[in-house]
Amino acid sequence: MNIKGIIFDLDGVIVSTDHFHYLAWKRLADEEGIYFDENINNRLRGVSRMESLEIILENANRTYSEEEKKELAQRKNNYYVDFLSNLASKDILPNVMSTLEALKKKNIKIAIGSSSKNTPIILKMIGLSDYFDAVADGNDIKKSKPDPEVFLIACERLNLIPKECMVIEDAKAGIDAARLGGMIAVSISDAYGYEKSDYSLKSIEDLLSII
Ligand code: BG6
Ligand code: MG
Repeated sequence: MNIKGIIFDLDGVIVSTDHFHYLAWKRLADEEGIYFDENINNRLRGVSRMESLEIILENANRTYSEEEKKELAQRKNNYYVDFLSNLASKDILPNVMSTLEALKKKNIKIAIGSSSKNTPIILKMIGLSDYFDAVADGNDIKKSKPDPEVFLIACERLNLIPKECMVIEDAKAGIDAARLGGMIAVSISDAYGYEKSDYSLKSIEDLLSII
């Protein structure tokens, strides 16, 4: 393996914002009387806002117009952004910074590959806006994970080819996307043990022993 770049998912890999996504969807679902739980939430990992809404609406007992869907997605995002209001570097997940620093020392390029349109504000709030060699996010793409688009853009912005890149993901959709894009797929957290992963990590610093 000759890994020159590592592309990190953001929500649930770098920072604990995945929980805020859950809380915001839960609040919306409760208001609308739609059943929603952590298992359904796991299907939303890596998936765009509008596609996530469609998954939630599978349990609705009425249909929603396109206008109503836009309003629901906007309302969820307002709740989500409210939950983010106290976000700071303390919310970076354990051992992430030491692992990133070690990769930099080894001259491995690092990037973010996230489906979230909130990526720029999140990176700013946790103090990592200028930290990564490249960022590709929900504002850059037409298709969200499991489509590989966001990772292919990140890879291109690192001036690397897919087989030189490794992707770290907590979403099964993200692991599928990495594989479809021709990259090494490494799962962690909720995707740990997913059979399509090339590697599964118990903790992010274990990354240093597989590269
Ligand atoms: C991904 C999250 O990173 O971003 C998903 O895992 C989320 O849960 C998606 O739906 C889109 O996020 P946003 O911030 O654009 O609504
Ligand atoms: Mg994630």
